[in-house]
Amino acid sequence: MTTLALTINGRAYGPIEVRDDLTMNDFLREYLGMTGTKYGCGAAQCLSCAVIVDRPDGTSHTNPTCIVPASSFNGKTIRTIEGHAKNGELTILQKTFIEHFAFQCGYCTPGFLNEGQVLLERLEKTPVAHADLDTTIGEALDGHLCRCTGYVKYHEAVRAAVLAEPTRFLKDGAQ
Ligand code: FES
Ligand code: FES
Repeated sequence: MTTLALTINGRAYGPIEVRDDLTMNDFLREYLGMTGTKYGCGAAQCLSCAVIVDRPDGTSHTNPTCIVPASSFNGKTIRTIEGHAKNGELTILQKTFIEHFAFQCGYCTPGFLNEGQVLLERLEKTPVAHADLDTTIGEALDGHLCRCTGYVKYHEAVRAAVLAEPTRFLKDGAQ
């Protein structure tokens, strides 16, 4: 057994005793009832199970949860798909996902949305040129698998979120 304490979507959880072999995916879904984080391949290959990990320096990255022990998240600050909307207000990215019909069965959507959110926050700190936007989005979403093959829609949805506020996310956004 191991002791787990972490922050999820701005709220502190634990300390709680969990089995050493409990995965983070099972902790979120079975212990906390946060079923928005999906379990796809179970082999760290599809990223449908990815959550956002916030680093102390203010940067973020996504991390799979399916084969990762919950204990490895001890002391960390993470965000799940349940943490995006605030007071019922969807984020710009959630809105563009809906507007672009980006999801079909929706199984991979939390992972794509988390990755897109990480990208938007990165672009806010380090904007890219408009000409590099498609390459940047493609590289960011690379690794996320969609069995319904909705890749183009996801790409378009993220691009629309960036272009909704170009001066915020692009170097040459004001031009
Ligand atoms: S379910 Fe975790 S990477 Fe596929
Ligand atoms: S929308 Fe079905 S797996 Fe991606």
